[in-house]
Amino acid sequence: MRFDQPADPNVADQGKVLGRPRTRIDGPLKTTGTAPYAYERHDVAPGQLVGYPVVSAIAKGRITAMDTRAAKNAPGVVAVVTTLDMERLPKAKMNVVYLFGGREIQHYHQAIAVVVAETFEQARAAAALVRTDYDEDRGASYDLAEQRQAHLDDQVEPASRVGDFERAFADAPVKLDATYSTPGQCHAQMEPHASIAEWKDGTLTLWTANQMVEWSRQALAKAFDLPPEKVRLDSPYIGGGFGVKLFLRADAILAAVAARETGRPVKVALPRPMIANNATHRGLTIQRIRIGTDRDGRITAIGHDNTTNTPPGGGGEEATIPTEHFYAGANRLLVHRPLEMHLPESNAMRAPGDTAGQMALEIAMDEMAERLDMDPVAFRVLNDTQVDPGKPERRFSERHFVECLRRGADEFGWSHRNRRPGDRRDGVWLIGHGMAGAYRGAPAQASGARVALRPDGSVRVDTDMTDIGTGSYTIIAQTAAEMLGVSVDAVEVGLGDSDSPVSAGSGGQWGAASATAGVYAACVALRERIAERLGADAASLELVDGQVRHGGETRPLAGLAGDRDLVAEDKIEFGDFRDKDYVLATFGAHFVEVGVHAYTGEIRVRRQLAVCDAGRILNPITARSQVIGGMTMGVGAALMEELKVDTRRGFFATHDLASYEVPVHADIAEQTVIFLEGEDPYSTPLKAKGVGELGICGVSAAVANAVYNATGVRVRDYPITLDKFL
Ligand code: MOS
Repeated sequence: MRFDQPADPNVADQGKVLGRPRTRIDGPLKTTGTAPYAYERHDVAPGQLVGYPVVSAIAKGRITAMDTRAAKNAPGVVAVVTTLDMERLPKAKMNVVYLFGGREIQHYHQAIAVVVAETFEQARAAAALVRTDYDEDRGASYDLAEQRQAHLDDQVEPASRVGDFERAFADAPVKLDATYSTPGQCHAQMEPHASIAEWKDGTLTLWTANQMVEWSRQALAKAFDLPPEKVRLDSPYIGGGFGVKLFLRADAILAAVAARETGRPVKVALPRPMIANNATHRGLTIQRIRIGTDRDGRITAIGHDNTTNTPPGGGGEEATIPTEHFYAGANRLLVHRPLEMHLPESNAMRAPGDTAGQMALEIAMDEMAERLDMDPVAFRVLNDTQVDPGKPERRFSERHFVECLRRGADEFGWSHRNRRPGDRRDGVWLIGHGMAGAYRGAPAQASGARVALRPDGSVRVDTDMTDIGTGSYTIIAQTAAEMLGVSVDAVEVGLGDSDSPVSAGSGGQWGAASATAGVYAACVALRERIAERLGADAASLELVDGQVRHGGETRPLAGLAGDRDLVAEDKIEFGDFRDKDYVLATFGAHFVEVGVHAYTGEIRVRRQLAVCDAGRILNPITARSQVIGGMTMGVGAALMEELKVDTRRGFFATHDLASYEVPVHADIAEQTVIFLEGEDPYSTPLKAKGVGELGICGVSAAVANAVYNATGVRVRDYPITLDKFL
């Protein structure tokens, strides 16, 4: 099914199940520890061996020798495969660095060997016996600030240029020129990367935890020079992704290499202390933001110049992204400078570009409002736009940012906020209030599904879509239930198997909208097959309460399929009108109250409020969970999370959950989420957009602005730790 016009009213979708609150159908499995994660797949691939990774102790240079004799003779060891034993595997599609293979080291903790043994303990003990000699390249710079200084005069083609920014900025009567920094951040997902690999009859099967099953199937096929149909991935349950599981990681490659070498299934997990440096992170940024306005506060010039780290060939953290479309202003200049450094691979993390960009932009907006002596809410309202500021012929399909701001201000009690920084106290606590806008694009991707009506009247949905903790199982079941007139309990959903139709996968906030639209398309096809069975016209069918009505007749769906499943498959594809004529995006406003201890500088977030405009909300419970997760992650980014760079040796020193701090329950006091009622008929036939990435955008700046409001100290370098008040 092709979607290339605003959605028509849809008779089959009455909002009886879709749009209703529903707890996650996989929730009990996950909370009781019975959802099998990749490392726990004891039900597949009998005779599994265990592989333990050996990783590089240098960031840049080359391996001169590896001595594996002691490891090979250790108890239980079956094989040791080193990177020197093989040619470099072709770079897996979309991985910027090599996951295995090669004498040349690209970054610290790059995988260089896998030790395979009968048990985990044997593999780990033997891995410690592998001796590696390096010829280390010393003198490389791992300091982004230093690199930025050295490259400030580089001529860089702007990422976007509209009007004459330099002149408009020079002429602006009110202006800001400020520089902000955000550190590297770690996804810190609950489930470490893990894969079990098995080679059988020329087919490679991988039980793994991966957000994008089809991308990774193609990538694995390329890495091992196999036709894609000889590769199967199975990824039904995933303990968090946030972008670090978009692509294959070393666990997958090491397991496959080790299984090929030993002729037995091998499972490999990346131990937590290896993840930060072996896998990907949100890149570091240093962002210069310039905003000029007229005397009334209308933006006339906006400039965003971002510097970030990237491995050779990568793009880095594109923090200028939000500035392209968010606020009005005739003259605009965006510059993105990815600097090649041999730090670990920076890559997508929840709302890539937007999260880091809005951490800076939304402080800059606060600073600008202060210069104008304007309420920061009013300043944003004044600079709202219904058209793409760079291409006014494109308009936002649905944009209710102003409503988010006003509703949030009302609900939060913004009119009672502390107005003068440092003015309000509650005992030893300085009380501050801050707010920020939120913006994130709402893409959609082609997505397929297969739906079966079973003889007993129940429904089975299969798609390679993944559920990374987001609620995909649930909203997909709701979609099928809605479309086929059955209860959610009568729908069984199978996800994450590459043998199923290819879906959009979980990435870029497109998963929920795209995958449910794909299931919708398959359900439309199944309704047609049901109609054929009855010799009726699909449009005249009514499917309600497990029954089908047409022409005055009612009969149960059970039995309709005979003794075989009645099956239909289709996919949704999107016409380019979505991008050509419209900007599809989601919007939000965040309001935060903090207390800052007057003597120690300890910061406590007292309450958070988010108002979100994301089209039709498919399930308010799962959507709220996404947003509060984002709000929590935004507090972490504001106050504690930092991959601290060892600038002499090029690695992240805070590489475990003891030193890389994330918020815990005690850090989060009160969170309120409001979804504006609405639909976006330009998005999908179900008129929904994503919220999973919107939820984090702007949050950290709202916290930062509240901290400023409490203390009068403007911290422009994240995380805002108490030493920065000294
Ligand atoms: Mo997302 S950072 O595309 O998982």
